[in-house]
Amino acid sequence: MAIYEVTGGNRLHGEVTISGAKNAAVAILPAAILVGGKCRVENVPDISDVRILIDILRSMGVGITQPEPNVVELDSSELTQLEAPAELVRKMRASYYLMGALLSRYHKAKVALPGGCNFASRPIDQHLKGFRLLGAQVEETEEYVNLTEGEFGLCGNRISLDVVSVGATVNIMMAATLLPGQTVIENAAKEPHIVDLANFLNTMGARITGAGTDTVKIRGVERLQGGTYTIIPDQIEAGTYLAAVAAAGGDVLVKNVIPKHMECITSKLAEMGARITNFDDAIRIQSTGKLHDTTVKTRPYPGFPTDMQAQICVCMTLAKGVSKLTESVYETRFFGYCTELQNMGADIIINGKTAIVTGQEKLRGAEVSAKDLRAGAALIIAGLAAEGITRVRNIHFVERGYENIIEKMTSIGADIRRIEE
Ligand code: UD1
Repeated sequence: MAIYEVTGGNRLHGEVTISGAKNAAVAILPAAILVGGKCRVENVPDISDVRILIDILRSMGVGITQPEPNVVELDSSELTQLEAPAELVRKMRASYYLMGALLSRYHKAKVALPGGCNFASRPIDQHLKGFRLLGAQVEETEEYVNLTEGEFGLCGNRISLDVVSVGATVNIMMAATLLPGQTVIENAAKEPHIVDLANFLNTMGARITGAGTDTVKIRGVERLQGGTYTIIPDQIEAGTYLAAVAAAGGDVLVKNVIPKHMECITSKLAEMGARITNFDDAIRIQSTGKLHDTTVKTRPYPGFPTDMQAQICVCMTLAKGVSKLTESVYETRFFGYCTELQNMGADIIINGKTAIVTGQEKLRGAEVSAKDLRAGAALIIAGLAAEGITRVRNIHFVERGYENIIEKMTSIGADIRRIEE
């Protein structure tokens, strides 16, 4: 088993380049099934979630080559298998995007229920409601979702989501792409990766408008054609490096970002005392490591992302004063890392959806274990800012979503090693 060993105390200096967005990549690669031909996707992050997805698509007969790092060429002309191996599908959450893609192109799909980060019960009722409204018959067992064409056939419809869901918005957008008629998704999620998926599909010939607002319209087309597309930078990876510098102190230029996507995060770090300078596609952060308290409530985009909750919490544990952190997307997310931070000396009191965090002078290194992807990233940040050595276990979670995290952290002066035990 590999672990990360982090020796705290170094300030971070230099430049770090952000990879392509994980959550965009895991939507765009299955969306290649809709293309029915060749497409080239650039700036694909080399992370384990993407590698699993590539294995899944290959097993279904999608021709895949990787002619250079971070580039994936897919040929979905001929799928040989419409069912993906359940053992691979269960390894990652976003494999449920196969449902929307297969339903749209083949009018049927049988997909095992997904895995991924288990930081909360993560229902897919809104995805299934969308498929039903598009005319699918949905059969759900404990292990599979089976979609077939209902008796009135598949066609566009108006779908109002009961909760703002990224996954449901993505899945319904995909499902509607090749169906006749117009689909309107109301109360849609507005995350940057939803806009990225719409841009990918439109580049391939789809007719999607309104992505990035709460009403997305998809006018179905008969077929897509091939093309080349470049994935946007990862908002959460960038936010993680910014939080690391804020907590550990230093001066780092975070390159290949879209500063607009980062405002919900940088505004909070600035409030806590870090200096933020925006450039066209980079953000400089300067921090003395001496932060002050703030209040954060996670919300769907453009609010503060739940995927940055754990990282900002680490900053709060070191910020002078009492901070308040409220989770409104995944209530149980605190349990993925707060006990570990408490073992490092953090003062966190959880009361339902809210954590009250009283800043301490120092955290101290400890043996900790990641319970999910972002929790793992937060424990690394805590280790960088702590006195002494922190050993982070369960790092497979971190490697699901952070490309070359050891190399990138080391390049800005962090003392972090991956050790085989
Ligand atoms: C996506 C992200 C994940 C992020 C989350 C919230 C991907 C691959 N993953 O996850 O990193 O933490 O958005 O920003 O993009 N819900 C329902 N019914 C549904 C679907 C969702 O009740 O059918 C609820 C969920 O329980 C949750 C909320 O809606 O409380 C938001 O979930 P959703 O946006 O769907 O998250 P994911 O797409 O799973």
